[in-house]
This record gives sequence, C-alpha cells and structure tokens, in this order.
Amino acid sequence: MTLGWAVISTGRHAENKIAPAIHAAPHAELVAVCSRDQQRADAFAERHGALAAYDSIESVLQDSRVDAVFIVSPNALHASQTIQAARAGKHVLTEKPMATSVEDAIAMIQVCRQHGVMLGVGFHLRTHPAHLEILRVLQQQALGTIALLNGQWGFGARGQVMPPPRPPLQQWWEEPELIGGASTMMGTGVHVVDLYRFLLGQEIVELTALADGQTPNQPLEQLLTMSLRFEDGPLATICCGRRLPDSLNDLVIYGSDGRVASRGTLWEAREGSLEIVSETVNTTADYPHAFLANYIDELEDFYYAVTEKREPAATGLDGLRAVEVTLAMITAAREKHTVKIERHTP
Ligand SMILES: NC(=O)c1ccc[n+]([C@@H]2O[C@H](COP(=O)([O-])OP(=O)(O)OC[C@H]3O[C@@H](n4cnc5c(N)ncnc54)[C@H](OP(=O)(O)O)[C@@H]3O)[C@@H](O)[C@H]2O)c1
Repeated sequence: MTLGWAVISTGRHAENKIAPAIHAAPHAELVAVCSRDQQRADAFAERHGALAAYDSIESVLQDSRVDAVFIVSPNALHASQTIQAARAGKHVLTEKPMATSVEDAIAMIQVCRQHGVMLGVGFHLRTHPAHLEILRVLQQQALGTIALLNGQWGFGARGQVMPPPRPPLQQWWEEPELIGGASTMMGTGVHVVDLYRFLLGQEIVELTALADGQTPNQPLEQLLTMSLRFEDGPLATICCGRRLPDSLNDLVIYGSDGRVASRGTLWEAREGSLEIVSETVNTTADYPHAFLANYIDELEDFYYAVTEKREPAATGLDGLRAVEVTLAMITAAREKHTVKIERHTP
C-alpha cells in the first residue's frame, strides 16, 4: 500500500526535494500537483511523473486518488489550504512554519481533528539519525543535567553582505504578510527551535532576540540571535542567517556529565557527524551526504502514522509551539526585551 500524495505549489522545495523524495519513498506515490498556473502544473507533473496537474486546490481535493497533501506553498497559505484539505478528508503534511498566527495554527489542529485526518509538520531534522541518537543519550541521562544548547543554521554566498533580491516566484519571502513577519527565523530558525523541544522534551518559557531586522525600515531580519530558557532550567542559543556563507551548522549540548557535538547536521540533506563525550557514553559517528534521506524518512513516518493511527514525528501541536516561539521572537527583537512564551491549548 502507498499514500497518494498531492504537492501543493511548485516552488524550489517541491521541485528539488519533496517530489523526488515522494518518488524515492517506498510507501508514497506522486498523484497530483497544484500550481496557480496550469502550465507550471503541467510542466511539473511531466518532470516528476505526477498522474495529474491542477490549477486549483479545489480540483486537487476532488481527486479520489489523493490521500494526502504536502503543502509547500508560501507560509501564510498553509492554514487555509490545510483546512480545505481536511474538510475534503485528506491527510495533511504541511511545511514549516505551520502557520503565521496562533489562531491559524489552532484552527488547523481543530479542523484536522474534527475531520479525523492526520496533521504533520515538516520538521525534517527530527529524522536525522544523529539527532535520534542524541535523543536516546539524553533520555538515558548520559549527559547528566543539561545546562546549555548552542545551535546555528546559516548560509549565504561569499562576497554578498546582504542576500540579493529574489526572482518573481520567490518574492513572497520578502512580503511580511505572506512570510509571517520574520525571514531567517522562518527559513531555518524554527527548525532549531523544534529540534531543541524534541531533544529536551521541554517547552521554552522565555526568550530574547537581536536581529538585523524587525524595524520599520527593515521589517524582515536576515541575521538573528536568540537566547532561550527551557522550563526545567536549560539555557539555549540559536543563531541563524542568510549572511553566513561559511556557516558551521552545528549543534552542541552541554550537561553536567558530558557534551554532544552534532556537526553539520542542521541542514536539509542528511550529512555531518556526531561526537559524544561523557562519563558513560563516548562515541563518534559520520553521516555520508544523502540529499533526500531526511525527507524520505519524514514521508515514511507520515505513512506509518496514518496506517498505524499514531502521531507523526512532528504534530500540529509541535507546529503550534514553534509558531508561539516565533511570534515571541518577533516581539522581543522589535521591542528589545525578554518575552515570556504564552502557550495555548488547541
Ligand atoms: N523543511 C525544509 O527543509 C524546507 C526547505 C525549504 C522550504 N520549506 C518551506 O516550503 C515552503 C515553500 O518554500 P520554497 O522555498 O519552495 O518557496 P519558493 O521556491 O519561493 O516557491 C513557492 C511557490 O509558491 C507559489 N507562490 C509564489 N508566490 C505566491 C503568492 N504570492 N501566492 C500564492 N502562491 C505563490 C509558487 O508556485 P505556484 O505558483 O506554482 O503555486 C512558488 O513557486 C515554505 O513554507 C518554506 O518554509 C521547507
């Protein structure tokens, strides 16, 4: 058995990662693609071997071969598309950020629940074996009491102080309404937020942030640092940006009995290495570059979540928590003070 997928939007993530990963995943079939433009949908379907191409989500949702939609559209559209799909009885795996407001995220969770469909969020870092090994080691308490997490996910191009303007189909990344009021936080920061929550099994209670944006002249930041406090005491930093061409995208966690260094694993492709140094566990591992592996595992996890009627790796609630943290980051950077995170029950 396979899940019949429809990909919603034909941007870079759909083109380079999601459609190829659906092809490569054992339990996934690319049934349909949706674009605002029929020609773009047709061309995408031809390139990726989709069975159907549509220029509206309504048409996609009428296709009985579609079991699930993978929403890869601009951030502010994730909520309405999720709700439409759920009402049509389709399962939803939506890209991060799940939504651009708490109200939208809650509505997505509620409507999916009411219609008995699965809702997952594309936090693919949860599938990297380095992160799964860290989770195992932390659950064994091999690092003792966790004190500090440092994580960075950045990128850029040498010689560019600021990223150049984007081509027309990517302009939505520059529109505060469509992207959700933050830029590099939406691109990579939310992944690190989610990974910290996943590894610690704790919520973030407060944060502060400094950014090169969140001002009237430059509403969207391209460089961001955050300091966060978790409920049981650990502190954490997250740095992200599009101005960091030689970024070391590492995660380091320090505890009272040791540390883990997960080097180069904060990325889209599966790659990097892991070093654990502690009283009881001392290991290293290397992860050869596997471009699609994290996304293939994400799709397979979602398939098993649907067929086994269990939660996916990242749930709607995980998506909501990342939205809450993102909105707190925007307030902290704009108003220049520490912000307590308000948690909501969907
Ligand atoms: N988890 C990950 O690793 C990862 C990586 C990259 C991106 N993402 C997420 O995936 C989503 C898409 O990112 P992307 O990099 O693929 O974006 P993108 O390349 O900029 O393309 C997005 C697509 O959305 C459609 N679109 C563009 N402007 C629009 C507008 N104003 N209104 C409605 N539709 C519009 C276009 O497709 P059509 O006109 O054909 O519909 C466009 O090709 C985002 O939510 C992003 O955060 C996740």
